[in-house]
Amino acid sequence: MSPHAEEFSLGQLELQAGKNIKGCLALLGLSDNRNRVTLNIDGEPKEEAMADNLINHPYIITIERHILDEQRIHPEATGALTNLLYDIAVAGKVIASKTTRAGLAEILGLTGDTNVQGEQVMKLDSFADMTIRRLTDHTGRLAGLASEENAEFMPIPDRYPKGKYLLLYDPLDGSSNVDFNMPIGTIFAIYKRTREDGTVTLDEFLQPGRNLVAAGYIAYGTSTMLVYTTGNGVHGFTLDPSVGEFLLSHPDIRIPSPAKYFSVNLGYVLHWSRGVQRYTEYLQGREGGVTALSLRYIGTLVSDFHRNLLAGGVFYYPADNRDPKAPSGKLRLLYEAAPLAFIAEQAGGWASDGRQRILDIQPESLHQRTPLYIGDMELVKKVEELIRDHDM
Ligand code: AHG
Repeated sequence: MSPHAEEFSLGQLELQAGKNIKGCLALLGLSDNRNRVTLNIDGEPKEEAMADNLINHPYIITIERHILDEQRIHPEATGALTNLLYDIAVAGKVIASKTTRAGLAEILGLTGDTNVQGEQVMKLDSFADMTIRRLTDHTGRLAGLASEENAEFMPIPDRYPKGKYLLLYDPLDGSSNVDFNMPIGTIFAIYKRTREDGTVTLDEFLQPGRNLVAAGYIAYGTSTMLVYTTGNGVHGFTLDPSVGEFLLSHPDIRIPSPAKYFSVNLGYVLHWSRGVQRYTEYLQGREGGVTALSLRYIGTLVSDFHRNLLAGGVFYYPADNRDPKAPSGKLRLLYEAAPLAFIAEQAGGWASDGRQRILDIQPESLHQRTPLYIGDMELVKKVEELIRDHDM
């Protein structure tokens, strides 16, 4: 670069021009965001190819670019996964924009069922479910989808091209928190189908979590964040509403140690096994336990997991004896536990059902439930020990 040239990161460029990033690039006649933009003192733009390893550099990185950079680690990649992840990010933006208006739906509706446009007002979880399906089912990247909202999986309809991936998702985790202006989330899991072709079958969805190709979640909180892994670390992106893009804000997340928090619904303590009760006492610092941890529980798995991922801690939702028909707790293996377990392990943590690694559980049904202990590796191993000592 000439000594007279000034170099701008995209963020600086945005400030300089008072425009959004894409607008700036368009103004400059540069559409390829894989390049660094520099301006010389006469204001003439020029592009410079970035170095090979684009991850973790000082420039603003959009999620699109990050996913593309990850694809380059796999020379055999066709781009289908890259595009699928980007489709999910787009769905996240759409859902995020709707969540901020959730409380308005009834006010704006004429009867509570119908909005001002005369359209049916849809519950947020159905809306999130439909948004993800509509943004992913026609692209030729998927062979099928399964949603926590629907009893059956959905093969990609005949009118659309088929792909090699399966998408399983919880469209709106924590939906009972929606009415109280509390954080909610979306969780997704991506597997490769196990057959080359033909209509997808149930057994292809019933894969253990260790087969996951990618997993992530979108947290709709004070800001919207997307966190994902493809098995190459865990990366977090914050939605900049002024730009409409997820920007890399948390590269290579590792669960900090020592743990600060434990997250559990203590209201059910009397319904837990002795091992789980003993574990809770251990976390509270009783009888040879750790220095007491701080208790934080939102009741939205995504939010509780996210906080513990960033600050250090353990979340658990144990088996309990409240309902003999649901002896394994509340959380779903395929839509919640397995994808978050993949993220936890990639961030240096662990996830268990109290007896075995979550990622090794062979699912037997689509909506199977599992006890879940997830987060700080040492603390998850501790519950396995106490369950072994007291419950087995
Ligand atoms: P829902 O989506 O029906 O609100 O369920 C949320 C899940 C999960 O996100 C959370 O960790 C757990 O249920 C909370 O359940 P409890 O209310 O029983 O604690």
